[in-house]
Amino acid sequence: MKNIFLALFFMALSSNAWANEIPEGMGVLPSSPPIPTNNPMTQAKVELGKKLYFEPALSKSGHFSCNSCHNLATWGVDNQQFSIGHKWQRGGRNAPTVLNSGFWSRQFWDGRAPLLEDQAKGPPLNPVEMAVESEADAVTRLKAAGYTTEFDAVFGKNSISYNNMAKAIAAFERTLNTPNAPFDLYVQGKGTISPAAIRGMNKVADIGCTSCHAGPLFTSNKFVAFKHGSDIGLKAVTGKDDDDHVFRVQSWRNVAMTAPYFHDGSAKTLAEAVSIMAKVQLNTKLSKHDVKDIVAFLETLTGEMPQITYPQLPRPNNHALDWQE
Ligand code: HEC
Ligand code: HEC
Repeated sequence: MKNIFLALFFMALSSNAWANEIPEGMGVLPSSPPIPTNNPMTQAKVELGKKLYFEPALSKSGHFSCNSCHNLATWGVDNQQFSIGHKWQRGGRNAPTVLNSGFWSRQFWDGRAPLLEDQAKGPPLNPVEMAVESEADAVTRLKAAGYTTEFDAVFGKNSISYNNMAKAIAAFERTLNTPNAPFDLYVQGKGTISPAAIRGMNKVADIGCTSCHAGPLFTSNKFVAFKHGSDIGLKAVTGKDDDDHVFRVQSWRNVAMTAPYFHDGSAKTLAEAVSIMAKVQLNTKLSKHDVKDIVAFLETLTGEMPQITYPQLPRPNNHALDWQE
C-alpha cells in the first residue's frame, strides 16, 4: 500500500510525464539546423542573404524573387498547386516551404540538391522560374543592381559570385525556423492542446504514420516510395527502378499552412492529404472522426514565424533598375 502511494507521489512530481504522455520520438523542434563548416553564419551574411531572397534582379523579367513563390508572409509558400514563374508559366511541382528547410537531409521533393547552397543555384537559371541565361548573367545583374560592395563587405574583396550568392541565401534560410508551436509548448509543460489534438497525436503513433514522419521534425528525412500520381520522383534523377516514385518524407511542421499538398499539389485540404496517406502508405481507411483528430494534431505544429523586416535593396546611383529590353 505504502509503495503505491510512493509511486503515485513520484508520478505526480514528474508532472511532465504525468500530464503529457508524448508518444516515443516526438519532441521539441531543435533550436537551429546544422551549419556547414564552409559557410559559417554571420549577421552581415544573413542580411545580404535576405536581400538576395527578395531580389527580383535575379530573374530575367526583373519580376520574380525567391519570395514570389516562397512568400514569407504566407509560411514560405504560395498556396498554389504549381507556382507561377517566368512569362507566367507554371512548373510541374508544388513549391515546398523554405521554413525549417535547413533541417532537411537533402533539398527538393526528390532530394536532387544536397544542401541549401546547392539548391539556391537552381531557381535563377530555371527557365520556368526566374529564367536568367547563365551564372555569369546572374552575377552581371547583381553588379548592375549595386551588390559589389555588399559582397565585399561579407566575403572579402572581389567576392561577388554565383557561389557566394548561394551561400548568403542559404545562411538566411537557416534562420527561417519556427519554434514554439503549441505542440512544442505542450511537450515542455508550458501549454495545452485540445483533447482532439491529443487523440490525433496518439493515433498517428498507433497506426504508424510516425514510422516515416518521425522525431521532432516529424520526418525521418528519408526517401521512400509514394505510389500516387504520374511523377516518378527520384527515378527521373537516378534512372534506377528502385527510385520509382521515391520522394522525401515531408515534415509536418507548419503543414496546416502550406496547402495544397504533395509534390503535385493534388490534395487540396489537409484532411484529404491525411486520408490519402493512410490509404497509400499504410493501407488503412481512416474514419472521418480519426481524420479530424489527426488534422487537429497537425494544426498544433504551426510554429512562430521569425520576425522579418522587409529589406531595402541596393540600387546604383539612387535609380530604379530598368529591365525593359
Ligand atoms: C517560380 C517559383 C519559384 C521560385 C521563383 C523559387 N522557387 Fe524554390 N521551389 C519552387 C518549387 C516548385 C520547388 C520544388 C521543386 C522540386 O522539388 O522539384 C522549390 C523548392 C525549393 C526548396 C526545397 C525545399 C524542400 O523542402 O526540399 C528551397 C529551399 C527553395 N525552393 C528555395 C528557393 C530560393 C532560395 C529561391 C530563390 C533563389 C527560390 N526557391 C525560387 C518554386 C520556386
Ligand atoms: C512509408 C512512409 C510514410 C508513412 C507511413 C506516412 N507518410 Fe506521409 N508522407 C510520406 C512521403 C514520402 C510524403 C511526401 C509525398 C509527396 O512526395 O507528395 C508524405 C507527405 C505527407 C503529407 C503532405 C505534406 C506536404 O507538405 O505536402 C501529409 C499531410 C502526410 N504525409 C501525413 C501522413 C499521415 C497522417 C500519415 C499516417 C496516416 C502518413 N503521412 C504516413 C511518407 C509517409
